Amino acid sequence: MKGMKLLTRMARSFVAGDNVDDALKQVQKLKDKGIMVTLDILGEAVEDKPMCDKAVQDYLDLLKKLAEVKSEAHISLKLTQMGLAIDDEYCTQNMVKIIGLAKKSGRFVRIDMEGSDVTQRTLDIFYRLRQQFDNAGIVVQAYLHRTEQDVRDINALKAKVRLCKGAYKEPKEVAIKKMKAIRVNFIKLAEMLFRKGVYPAIATHDSKLIKWTKAYTAENKIKNSDWEFQFLYGIRNKTQRKLAEEGYRVRTYVPFGTHWIPYFYRRLRERKENVFFLTKNFFKR
Ligand code: FDA
Repeated sequence: MKGMKLLTRMARSFVAGDNVDDALKQVQKLKDKGIMVTLDILGEAVEDKPMCDKAVQDYLDLLKKLAEVKSEAHISLKLTQMGLAIDDEYCTQNMVKIIGLAKKSGRFVRIDMEGSDVTQRTLDIFYRLRQQFDNAGIVVQAYLHRTEQDVRDINALKAKVRLCKGAYKEPKEVAIKKMKAIRVNFIKLAEMLFRKGVYPAIATHDSKLIKWTKAYTAENKIKNSDWEFQFLYGIRNKTQRKLAEEGYRVRTYVPFGTHWIPYFYRRLRERKENVFFLTKNFFKR
């Protein structure tokens, strides 16, 4: 029990709170600093239909709330939270409800990318949804060998892409393992998105990639209004603020809700110092 309390306090640095009101407070603070947001209700790998129905309803309620408070926030979600583990058609219809309601208030919906076991099905559902909606975008992961071809296909559809390195544990047959090589691929994919894509989102906390993006967009005279940087809530806050002050468009991914364990675990895994840092700080309090 004590251990759970400790973890909950540690998770607070990456999660904006348990409910939408907690999250909206953080959204306002970010807005005051000139930072935009995409909101994520935590949840994934849901195999139980009533739980999926509840997650869908939670997103519909979130969209209504955002319209009420006149927030321009985007939303992000995972297809395994929307029924991908149950049935593709059920999942697609859940997404139609959510993207359809988002469209009514001119809001953008980003489909997060999960493990390589569901990459193709996630893309297939996204391609289906794109035939009906233009307010949906997707994520691609620079560590996957397949991503170059996926970016070509997505660019051909003129769909919006968030480019990230990738956060799941993948075998070497499907994913690049060395950080240096992932960075090289990230840059190659970013160039493809800047040249032939639509409004790319460069989602990384990596200083080298941020520096490269700033230099590339300046050299190629790409306007700041044609793309954005994206960060995760609670990570490199000063950099987020500084980039916004410098005139770049910055959007923070703000997760909230009670199902934070898998998300939190991925954040810890990305940086082992987190475990030491957070534990040390917890005991200092
Ligand atoms: P990297 O991990 O090399 O970090 C660079 C530096 O940033 C570190 O040295 C440290 O200073 C800081 N940093 C990074 N992670 C930190 C952490 N957890 N705590 C503290 N400091 C940290 N992945 C995915 O598979 N599917 C998805 O849909 C998404 N969506 C997504 C949205 C957004 C907005 C972002 C920023 C990222 C994602 N990701 C994701 C996660 C992504 O794939 C990747 O795992 C993380 O961003 C970490 O990789 P970086 O490129 O940030 O670099």
